[in-house]
Amino acid sequence: MKLAGVILAGGLGKRMNSSLPKVLHTIHGTPMLQYVLNTLYGLKPQKVIVVVGKHLKEIRKSIKEERSITFAKQEESKGTANALLKAWPTLKGFKGTVIVVNGDTPLIILGTLKKLLALHKKRGNMVSLLSFIAKEPGSYGRVIRNKENKVMSIIENRDATDFQKEIKEVNSGIYAIEPEAFHILKEIKLNKSKGEYYLTDIIGIAKNKGMKVDALCIGSEDELMGVNTRQELEMVRQLMKDRIIKRWIVRGVNFMDTSSVFISPNTKIGRGTFIYPNVYLEGSTKVGRGCTIYPSVRIHNSIIGDGAVIKDSTLIEESVVKSQASVGPFARLRPGSIIGKGARIGNFVEVKKSVIGSGTKAGHLTYLGDSKIGNNVNVGAGTITCNYDGYKKHVTLVGDDVFIGSDSQLIAPVKIGKGAYIGAGSTITKDVPSMALALSRVEQMSIKDWVRKRKFKVQSSKFKVKKDKRK
Ligand code: UD1
Ligand code: CA
Repeated sequence: MKLAGVILAGGLGKRMNSSLPKVLHTIHGTPMLQYVLNTLYGLKPQKVIVVVGKHLKEIRKSIKEERSITFAKQEESKGTANALLKAWPTLKGFKGTVIVVNGDTPLIILGTLKKLLALHKKRGNMVSLLSFIAKEPGSYGRVIRNKENKVMSIIENRDATDFQKEIKEVNSGIYAIEPEAFHILKEIKLNKSKGEYYLTDIIGIAKNKGMKVDALCIGSEDELMGVNTRQELEMVRQLMKDRIIKRWIVRGVNFMDTSSVFISPNTKIGRGTFIYPNVYLEGSTKVGRGCTIYPSVRIHNSIIGDGAVIKDSTLIEESVVKSQASVGPFARLRPGSIIGKGARIGNFVEVKKSVIGSGTKAGHLTYLGDSKIGNNVNVGAGTITCNYDGYKKHVTLVGDDVFIGSDSQLIAPVKIGKGAYIGAGSTITKDVPSMALALSRVEQMSIKDWVRKRKFKVQSSKFKVKKDKRK
């Protein structure tokens, strides 16, 4: 089946009360339009056209073009029929069905679009409209049917009589249209009450011309909800959140309290993973099987291996934590960090753009930046890689089985050979050979009776002052 998809995204979105174009308002960090696009891609259309208004530049910048998109410009927001008319020239010569979707319907599911197209084809319709039953039909266009239950037209809420307003079957703003019906767009007259050309009028006109027209009442109200106001955006956000969490529960993920958990649509979670409250899994994060994510953890665009444990109040960004590793509590993995299998990153440890070998431990109060730390290394409390000289970043290399004593500074660029020992409190400025002990401390001295002598000195000097005052 030859198919083209058109998304209408040229409206002003006045009801959002915002300078941002409506379709760029985000749900879980992703613009509404992107959700519609992604679902449409699922139909594998030969062409995707997005009708945009004056915000073309902003929209282009905010959207990921997985496949090439043709942008059709609608200079003035003159209504949905006018918007589709602007897409028409880009479809010149295209001989196939055109699916039209409002850009403000982000919860639409691929399966529903497929159903619409299958029925449209099967019944040989010229225009099919996707309708649904709304508990509160509010501002949706009402589907007007005759006594034989045949669709006659769509009446917008603002133009509907009180009687028509009672109708619960409404227009979702999603249509399948054959190219032969496109010329109707030119016949659609300006709706005076709103000063717009309504795409919904295509139904009545096509019907009068004897074309086969149908409203297919499939899909649910939750799925087909259009976003016109910020309250509706918030409702859609909640619905999306619940939909995502339900999906993972079904696939065997455990949650202690779903109400405070946020999971992005592109996150994947393995079976048997346990997620505590107040956890944020953002972007394209992948969490393996049997992991535990403790409270107040935020993970962004990262990969967490099977059986890993992320302890309380930890932030992980664009990093990899390999299987069975443990990170936190209160740890921070900055972009480009790779934590090896079974490694342990403990409290108040910050890792940046570093590879930490398997079985390596950095348990407390440490900074590891621009470094490559081997396997089974012990990084003592308070170890710092001094990677920045005020101009450039330098690399620290630590071989396997190295022991770094507490409170050591490794001044990069520096290399610690395999199996070497760094004595606690050392400042390492030169490379350390394999299996060597490196120490850089001022030799300790103990001055006998120093304290007692000092006390005596202080007391006698006070005595002198008092005497002086009496003079
Ligand atoms: C529209 C339908 C209504 C339906 C509802 C479903 C019309 C006249 N009404 O109403 O029957 O129940 O969607 O959610 O079509 N747009 C443009 N250019 C414009 C105006 C709008 O591209 O000049 C785009 C918008 O960006 C939006 C979509 O078309 O993505 C729908 O426009 P909107 O103003 O939200 O229509 P509704 O009033 O919701
Ligand atoms: Ca709308």
